[in-house]
Amino acid sequence: MRIVILGTGAGGGLPQWNCGCPNCGRARDGLIPAMSQSGIAVSANGRDWALINASPDLRGQLQATPALAPQALRGTPIRSVLVSNGDIDHVAGLLTLREGQGFDLFATKAIHAVLAENPMLSALDARLVRRAEVALDQPFELAPGLTACLFAVPGKVPLYLEGETVETGLIGEQTVGVELTANGRRACYVPGCAEVPDWLKQRLAGCDALLFDGTLWTDDEMIRAGLGAKTGRRMGHVPVSGADGSMAALAGLALGQRIFVHLNNSNPLVDPGSPERALARAEGWQVGHDGLEITP
Ligand code: MLT
Ligand code: MN
Ligand code: ZN
Repeated sequence: MRIVILGTGAGGGLPQWNCGCPNCGRARDGLIPAMSQSGIAVSANGRDWALINASPDLRGQLQATPALAPQALRGTPIRSVLVSNGDIDHVAGLLTLREGQGFDLFATKAIHAVLAENPMLSALDARLVRRAEVALDQPFELAPGLTACLFAVPGKVPLYLEGETVETGLIGEQTVGVELTANGRRACYVPGCAEVPDWLKQRLAGCDALLFDGTLWTDDEMIRAGLGAKTGRRMGHVPVSGADGSMAALAGLALGQRIFVHLNNSNPLVDPGSPERALARAEGWQVGHDGLEITP
């Protein structure tokens, strides 16, 4: 199995267009690596690929990934696209895939309903793009030789659908993790997760690679930095650090590679020279970067 991290950043990316925070400034100056928005590409055979999440940066991500280039006058090695929630950073890139190309679009029923409400996405010609509903915990063929299985993780509805009260620990079809299996190997991709209960740990245990929500280092870092009014948990993202963070929760688990993805620009982990990055490394965690390829 090959997994390419197309984009390591959370919504907004690094640098974010309207952000003058120290991390965004350093990324703008080329002092730390920029991060495009969240998504990966996966293949079991190196010829047929699936995208998981289609970020607004997808066009540049495809251009930067030779394996995803067309092999014919018109065509693509991308057989399918799977979205793990309805957030803009995970679905806006679908509009980039509208040029009369066939592929399968996989999502849960709830997320397909959200996509169906958006008339702009009818630009994906229904005669070419097959919208396939996937039930939780039912393995299916995502691309030749590549099996995926969606599982619920604590999360919430997309930001643009939030009502007056928001439940951030919803367990259902709105936010899912993706288990990928091919050639006897198993990887899990969980770019958004509001908490790490024991049942989720059991679901992740033993995988050869875990790509996990690294949005924020501390729950209130955006508030303290003057960048926003919300905590990470309110945004549906468990923080990395602290006694109740993801690193502590996953510490005892038997896992192969552990990689943080979906990093917000406020997260000190985006700076390769930060003490937080050294701490994470000491705990066995790697921080993803755009273009990183792993073979779980
Ligand atoms: C998130 O991951 O919390 C969302 O992508 C936020 C957003 O839609 O910008
Ligand atoms: Mn996001
Ligand atoms: Zn910033």
